[in-house]
Amino acid sequence: METVFSLDDLRRRIQGWRREGARIALVPTMGNLHAGHISLLERARALADHTVVSIFVNPIQFGKGEDYARYPSTLEADQGKLSAAGLDLLFAPNLDQLYPGGIEEDTRVTVPVLSSILCGQYRPGHFSGVATVVSKLFINVQPDVALFGEKDYQQLLVIKRMTRDLLMPVEILGMPIVRESDGLAMSSRNSYLNADERARAPLIHEELRAAADKLVTGKHSLIAIETAAMATLTAAGFRPEYFSVRRAEDLEIPKAGDRSLQVLAAAWLGEARLIDNLRVELAGPLPQG
Ligand code: PAF
Repeated sequence: METVFSLDDLRRRIQGWRREGARIALVPTMGNLHAGHISLLERARALADHTVVSIFVNPIQFGKGEDYARYPSTLEADQGKLSAAGLDLLFAPNLDQLYPGGIEEDTRVTVPVLSSILCGQYRPGHFSGVATVVSKLFINVQPDVALFGEKDYQQLLVIKRMTRDLLMPVEILGMPIVRESDGLAMSSRNSYLNADERARAPLIHEELRAAADKLVTGKHSLIAIETAAMATLTAAGFRPEYFSVRRAEDLEIPKAGDRSLQVLAAAWLGEARLIDNLRVELAGPLPQG
């Protein structure tokens, strides 16, 4: 596996592959890799001739007071994992490579509406930061396909919408959440949990499952399901931001007739902001309210 740090070196490699007519896959990450990331890489390798993984902790997707400064940086360990998984090329740029003019007045890519709800309501500017850096990566890696984890379900939809609207010739693939054996969704931020919090963290997934079961029975209103989950999480010491049943396609509030739903949650536990979600396919009509 080769690691390149500069755009020049990246572009040289990409041009060579393009000349050969090779199919290229991209897996963008912020490093501190876990089995979820490796599952993306494995799928990417099956789909393309060459795979690029990027590791870049993108400052503009972090809000003031968020964890940018302490986000775990584990390049050497990540390189070991990527190399063992058979990666071709790791792109690990520094700040100057991706933001040569600084970050304050840099051009932003913004996907309206979808970026301002759910996580976007609590992290203003976050999805614009994501869309901007992913655009920079797409322009320079020129992937045929790019893979993202469904744990960040809203991010996945934002990137799909951006790609569609900006006519980017990239196929966006979402990959299933990889979970610990107790159900906790794998995340680089799980390392912020102490032992006691880690033991309690799977409750988010349990509440998502409970909500899914209630939806399937058709006997509970959406509001009742959401309120009960928020109360359970709060009583267990979480600080939930939202627990919400949405339409899977666009994260709008579900309407009568909608069958594909996504239940999504974000909650703080100690120093960690945890997010998770679950797809629910209804066989019958949506409960009212
Ligand atoms: O999901 C992530 O790790 C990041 O948001 C991404 C897509 C790499 C953009 O910085």
